[in-house]
Amino acid sequence: MEVVSEVASLVAWRGDQRGRRIGFVPTMGFLHAGHASLMDRLRPEVDLLVVSSYVNPLQFGQNEDLSRYPRDADGDERLCRAHRVDLLFRPDSLYPPGFSTAVTVHGSLTDRLEGEHRPGHFEGVATVVARLLALVGPTVAAFGEKDWQQLAVVRRVVVDLGLPVEILGCPLIRDADGLALSSRNKYLSPDDRRRALSLVTALRAVAAAFQQGERDADRLGGIGRAQLDVDRLDYLEVAAAADLAALDQVDRPARVLVAAVVGSTRLIDNLAIPWT
Ligand code: PAF
Repeated sequence: MEVVSEVASLVAWRGDQRGRRIGFVPTMGFLHAGHASLMDRLRPEVDLLVVSSYVNPLQFGQNEDLSRYPRDADGDERLCRAHRVDLLFRPDSLYPPGFSTAVTVHGSLTDRLEGEHRPGHFEGVATVVARLLALVGPTVAAFGEKDWQQLAVVRRVVVDLGLPVEILGCPLIRDADGLALSSRNKYLSPDDRRRALSLVTALRAVAAAFQQGERDADRLGGIGRAQLDVDRLDYLEVAAAADLAALDQVDRPARVLVAAVVGSTRLIDNLAIPWT
């Protein structure tokens, strides 16, 4: 496996790989089994597998956890080797001097849910993903469904900018107790972790109520919210799966999404509404 920390070295490497099928997993490092599942999903389909690890300052708000975002360079390298990654791109800086471009996705895809609670977040994500896709030039890139809204934003960017890459959404991975894997879980105390499980309990309660015939999106949301044991709830809502539009009645494929703070850690999770 090559480990590359300069943009110029990545571009030189990429120049030698013309005609080969390249798979790409963009990450912010502190890799876990969720990231590994993306690598394993792509590995059999591609000639070369590239992983990036870059904690992108553009997608963090002023009061967010950029400075304390967890890092583990050695662990990341070990995990990438174990999952047969060909190139790990780990730049110290990704943007050129004078960088002045932003990719903005407008509308309900970005101004609700995560977008409402983290202003500027999706612009930072769209900008870094567009730059990474331009540099890596993958045939296919994998993103986790844990960040369901991010995945929808990335798909929009790729269609709107006509980027020649297939975007593959991959299932969210949970620990045995049901907690969605996240680099931020490391901050949960044992008691926080127990309370954090109320997120998945809430999502499952909403899916079960839908299965029992409830179609009113507000009432479904209320059923989920009643299960939560958190310190701050940002949202728990049933939204259209494809474009995250708000729903009155659940009359199309939908997703229940939650964001909440437990202790000092903000967690997100989501689950498919069992549409038949
Ligand atoms: O999901 C993430 O880890 C990040 O948002 C991404 C896609 C790597 C962009 O920084």
